Amino acid sequence: MKFVRFIMKNASLASVPKHIEHFSKFSPSPLSMKQFLDFGSINACEKTSFAFLRQELPVRLSNIMKEINLLPNRLLTTASVQTVQSWYIQSLMEILEFLDKNPDDFKVLGEFVDALVTIRNRHNDVVPTMAQGIIEYKEAFPQDLVTNQNIQYFLDRFYMSRISIRMLINQHTLIFDGTLNPVHPNTIGSIDPQCEVGDVVQDAFHSAKMLCDQYYLRSPDLILQEMCNGPESIVYVPSHLYHMLFELFKNAMRATIETHDKSNTLPPIQVRVSLGDEDMSIKVSDKGGGVPFRRIENLFSYMFSTAPAPQIGEHTRPPLAGFGYGLPISRLYAQYFQGDLQLYSMEGHGTDAVIYLKALSTDSIERLPVYNKTTLKNYKVSQEVDDWCIPSKEPLDLSICKVPK
Ligand SMILES: Nc1ncnc2c1ncn2[C@@H]1O[C@H](COP(=O)(O)OP(=O)(O)OP(=O)(O)O)[C@@H](O)[C@H]1O
Ligand SMILES: [Mg+2]
Repeated sequence: MKFVRFIMKNASLASVPKHIEHFSKFSPSPLSMKQFLDFGSINACEKTSFAFLRQELPVRLSNIMKEINLLPNRLLTTASVQTVQSWYIQSLMEILEFLDKNPDDFKVLGEFVDALVTIRNRHNDVVPTMAQGIIEYKEAFPQDLVTNQNIQYFLDRFYMSRISIRMLINQHTLIFDGTLNPVHPNTIGSIDPQCEVGDVVQDAFHSAKMLCDQYYLRSPDLILQEMCNGPESIVYVPSHLYHMLFELFKNAMRATIETHDKSNTLPPIQVRVSLGDEDMSIKVSDKGGGVPFRRIENLFSYMFSTAPAPQIGEHTRPPLAGFGYGLPISRLYAQYFQGDLQLYSMEGHGTDAVIYLKALSTDSIERLPVYNKTTLKNYKVSQEVDDWCIPSKEPLDLSICKVPK
């Protein structure tokens, strides 16, 4: 029996590249926030959602698996990246088992929910595992600077794909597991049709403050200003917004405390929330000394951090900073529904971090990576010469330009 299972497993593994090839030919279908809501409310139909997901999940998985395969061999073959890749293969195969199953069978629908939960749990540690792979690679090949850009490109797309896959899985499992969210009964899956931004700001601030108090035994206060009269709300995923704000607050607190370490009082962190016709903008301002303009884009680089590397262990506290993933991942969350996250800094004074979200649920449409010819180009290592002059560090010897008398 064991032998038969072994043969079956290997036979199905052998067919993996064929499946990836097939499903990566389809482009992912981005959903709008409104479609997510419709899936879960008026038109809530488990069968429709099942039929959509058993095609869409393999498409999204295969598109990104094609890109994993384009990584430089020295990175692809690290133990961590191999582990991540094996999770993706296993999950793809598990979903494909539902392709020929009958959507009218309740048992099948139940099994599908269970399979999605298993897949979600399997992928819980994708971010730290992939990060570990990159660390291993960078330690082994520190001189490989050219591929840094390709890795940044890959990670942005890989993590964005992951956010989107988790969103689909969460919506289906939360809506069709037959229970109501006891804390937020009005949410539809993970979406709050009336997400009050001010409440999420307060929640995220208090969590960051607790962490900050543990580290520095002090923390700055919050001044929250909502630009309209009443509380501002939009259709959004509160957990995504919380994630972004929590990261911004941790950064703002650390900068504030480290800049004002000799003073008794700390300047507060100011948050302004403004809802317009098109944008919901949330600005987090600190007086933490700012960052030089030259370094701003660098801050969005994975693993760029000015904090000491945190210790990872079962009994260690969660760190306030140090992985360098806070900003890049938060920007992805903002961009996922067509928003953005930008930093404006004045060195010597402080930093404004602005989250832009779409005010209308019809404009909040998933932003998804697709694998195509353009993608391929971005993985090719190009060593073209720069078409802008590089200023020399040495002063120019003007004596050579002397005109003979
Ligand atoms: N408000 C700010 N003021 C000054 N510097 C900042 C601010 N926000 C971010 N930075 C700089 O940007 C770097 C990267 O920030 P990021 O949040 O991505 O990573 P981190 O805070 O170092 O680690 P973590 O992944 O734990 O958040 C920080 O280490 C810090 O040097
Ligand atoms: Mg941070």
